Amino acid sequence: MTRFFEHIADTYARFPVVLVKGNGTRLMDETGREYLDFTSGIAVCNLGHCHPGLIEVAKRALEELWHVSNLYWTRPQAELASAICERSFGEKVFFCNSGAEAVEAAFKLMRRFGRETKGPGAVEVIALEGSFHGRTLGALSLTGQPKFQKDFRPMLPTVTFVPRNDIKALRLAIGKRTCGVILEPIQGEGGVFELEDEYLEAARRLCDENGLLLCFDEVQVGMGRTGHLFAHQGTPVVPDLMCLAKALGNGLPIGALVARERAMSYLPPGTHASTFGGNPVICQVAKRVVELVGDVRFLDEVREKGEVLKEGLWAIKGEYPGLVKEVRGRGLIQAVEFHSPIPGIGKRFLEKGVLVITPGDKLLRCLPPLIITREEIEEFLTCVREVLSAIGPA
Ligand SMILES: Cc1ncc(COP(=O)(O)O)c(C=O)c1O
Repeated sequence: MTRFFEHIADTYARFPVVLVKGNGTRLMDETGREYLDFTSGIAVCNLGHCHPGLIEVAKRALEELWHVSNLYWTRPQAELASAICERSFGEKVFFCNSGAEAVEAAFKLMRRFGRETKGPGAVEVIALEGSFHGRTLGALSLTGQPKFQKDFRPMLPTVTFVPRNDIKALRLAIGKRTCGVILEPIQGEGGVFELEDEYLEAARRLCDENGLLLCFDEVQVGMGRTGHLFAHQGTPVVPDLMCLAKALGNGLPIGALVARERAMSYLPPGTHASTFGGNPVICQVAKRVVELVGDVRFLDEVREKGEVLKEGLWAIKGEYPGLVKEVRGRGLIQAVEFHSPIPGIGKRFLEKGVLVITPGDKLLRCLPPLIITREEIEEFLTCVREVLSAIGPA
């Protein structure tokens, strides 16, 4: 930790624990203490830590080919892209390394689409208040949370923000210069807020009527998190573009922009690139991830376990009405909102051997690995009860 403080940039507030090993739903620190992981590395290790099947693929891949650049064709890229497209609306995929990069690619594509179809000024994108799309300047410009933008202004001026689930506001925001709409089917970093089916349908209709591209950022809620391989598959709407990252590599860095062929044609050769995008080792692992997470029985289980978690959290809300304001979420992304911040709540869970995400000390965001068992969900719920009862009167 001393060396960490000396040489690591101070950009994160970290819990005081050094993690050294992972196995399934458990992590171990350097003193040998075990933790139940209810974060999945922020919705990344959906198949748990050090999944044996993925290790096998990774080891084999590491002995084959590490990197050749995108000047050449490699088999793993094609196979992963096929695996994604066979299971979605996608026809073409652009690979990159992170969620922000997938969003950047979508943003550039939407702008180029607008210029080509409507004229040079048609580069405006509508995004939602409370959204989160990443920390690079383009993705940050689409992020509807002033706290992330304020120290880095000016942002790109071509973004309009509208409140979520407000169809009229969306309709009024669309103009001659609009080229696309970007949204998360469930706002993850924004506090686990679901978009209503009716709103998504209206967004689809308005995009069609006005010749706009509809982009879903599924970086956090895609890859099985909601009990569907891709989150929009649990809604009545199919987007034109979909951003993926996080759990696609189950911990190895990869991002992807998925599109129909016509939409992707607006990024022709030379318009966009990423040196490491489509890395052959990571693509082989990600293909296995898509196959495992895309299994129908696996996804059924995720939805059922999501219900167990949700019901448990609702019961706790009933037991602690003075502390818990709301429970919301879908599948295995669930959140408990408190009436007011509970300082140090994350540390209380840590001390009990459970890792959780507690933004602003006001929300408990549950993102367990999708392989979590019902017994482990009960173990977690017991821990929530212990932490809340130690805090004070219900
Ligand atoms: C919906 C969404 N989009 C984009 C990002 C950015 O992803 P990354 O941190 O991989 O750049 C995140 C990260 O939390 C996210 O939740």
